[in-house]
Amino acid sequence: MQIEAHATRPIDGQKPGTSGLRKKTATFLSPDYLQNYVQAIFDAIEPAGKTYVLGGDGRYFNDVAIAIILRMAAANGVARMIVGRAGLLSTPAVSHLIRLHETDGGLILSASHNPGGPKGDFGLKYNIANGGPAPEAITDAIHARTRKITEYRIAKADAPDHTQDGEFALGDMRIDIVDPVTEYADLMETLFDFDAIRGLIARGFTLRFDAMHAVTGPYGVEIFERRLGAPGGSVVNHRPQPDFGGGHPDPNPVWASDLVAAMMAADGPDFGAASDGDGDRNMIMGRGIYVTPSDSLAVIAANAHLAPGYRDGITGIARSMPTSGAADRVARTLGIECHQTPTGWKYFGTLLDAGRATICGEESAGTGSDHVREKDGLWAVLMWLNIIATRGQSVAEIMADHWATYGRTYYSRHDFDGIDATVANALMNDLKSALATLPGQAAGPLTIVEAQDFDYTDPVDGSVATSQGVILTFEGGGRAVLRLSGTGTEGATLRLYLERHEAPTGDLGQDPQAALAPVKAAAEAVAGIRARTGRDGPDVVT
Ligand code: G1P
Ligand code: ZN
Repeated sequence: MQIEAHATRPIDGQKPGTSGLRKKTATFLSPDYLQNYVQAIFDAIEPAGKTYVLGGDGRYFNDVAIAIILRMAAANGVARMIVGRAGLLSTPAVSHLIRLHETDGGLILSASHNPGGPKGDFGLKYNIANGGPAPEAITDAIHARTRKITEYRIAKADAPDHTQDGEFALGDMRIDIVDPVTEYADLMETLFDFDAIRGLIARGFTLRFDAMHAVTGPYGVEIFERRLGAPGGSVVNHRPQPDFGGGHPDPNPVWASDLVAAMMAADGPDFGAASDGDGDRNMIMGRGIYVTPSDSLAVIAANAHLAPGYRDGITGIARSMPTSGAADRVARTLGIECHQTPTGWKYFGTLLDAGRATICGEESAGTGSDHVREKDGLWAVLMWLNIIATRGQSVAEIMADHWATYGRTYYSRHDFDGIDATVANALMNDLKSALATLPGQAAGPLTIVEAQDFDYTDPVDGSVATSQGVILTFEGGGRAVLRLSGTGTEGATLRLYLERHEAPTGDLGQDPQAALAPVKAAAEAVAGIRARTGRDGPDVVT
């Protein structure tokens, strides 16, 4: 096999964020952009003789990128690549295949929930041998390589067609093209009581799963319709499309508004759920009720023992710092460890590997467990179906019971998108400089008790992440968190997270935005978002 050593120069800005390198598709399409980054990964991980999993969410450029990566892998001495048929693999499925086949890692092509297409976003993420996103030491090394790169290596031969299952070769490198769904679906059958869920559906329980024209379509059809017996059509928008049907494949009440409308109808399905572009996020609904991701984490933690894979109970819970404290209350009752980590699934890896957390979650619609090292949308949906089948209760009844036991943590996230980066950085920097002076001060209707910039020391490996978001705690227990997104591709996104706990004996039936109005006003008084950004309000409220 002939190899070309292609001369190149460093390209600015190839710095991985919260979840790999994510940029506008046009940026990824620019000359040598993808190749430089892939070579930087290979330079950092020394891939000769190793095996990797490769797949993506099917967005525009997925197929072209896969062919390029295969040629570069062969040229860099990789022994074997395991690739999802047609280039498709959900992010949790990549994580599972890495672990199942004990490979050295994997490459995931996705920009998650961001829109796809020539005008949308693209991304590339490297996962390590435990199946999880590379920790910062490795992503820093990759970034350092991007700044020094002088050439990349690529096979001159074409990569084999990856639309058919089978074993192929590219020079000395073996390529296995595999069905993206089977092994993942088999794993789900080991964790959940498929008989109980099948019985529930056979008795007339109705569900609607919205794949949002993204990667979970084939997974949803296989699991819900073929294996669990839901009628054809229960999985909607199930054909992955390069531009996600022109939509924004983010499972939240704003972008999955069709599903919300169906679920709010009096004759709507009993259960509704959606997943995102690459299949790691989830949204859970019952007829007439939306479950916040923070509540979902708490309910799953409290009920996980009802699923066969968690029959012996869970060892600990981990949640990202901006996620509500609802799960902490469950951990306290269960007498298990509870960890608060920075935003991003990569921070859960060490805790999961060490057995110090079984269930993890983020307020951004991410929930998962130690079965893989990524969040997992379909896993959360199956967990809910297992809980519903075993408890014999509706989603609304389960939530009512949960709140009556633990109280209700009202929660909402307000996003301000596409803000000028200078304005956003100044807002955060000014806030951080004022932190020491804030405790004891009045902020709108509330008084500030504590103000801190979140620093985290990993309890397993001692690694440190600093300045991960500002936490304002108010008298009466309300909390506001402010941080800048690490996944955006245009300007800056400011996220404001609001929460307030209501005891079991309190008013559990309020509208969340009304319940949180004082916390929001207090945060605004401290941060001055309106005045600084010129925005009247957030772009997205979830
Ligand atoms: C967002 C979410 C975060 C999640 C990440 C990747 O990151 O907030 O919880 O892990 O996407 O899906 P952010 O844009 O806030 O940095
Ligand atoms: Zn995702």
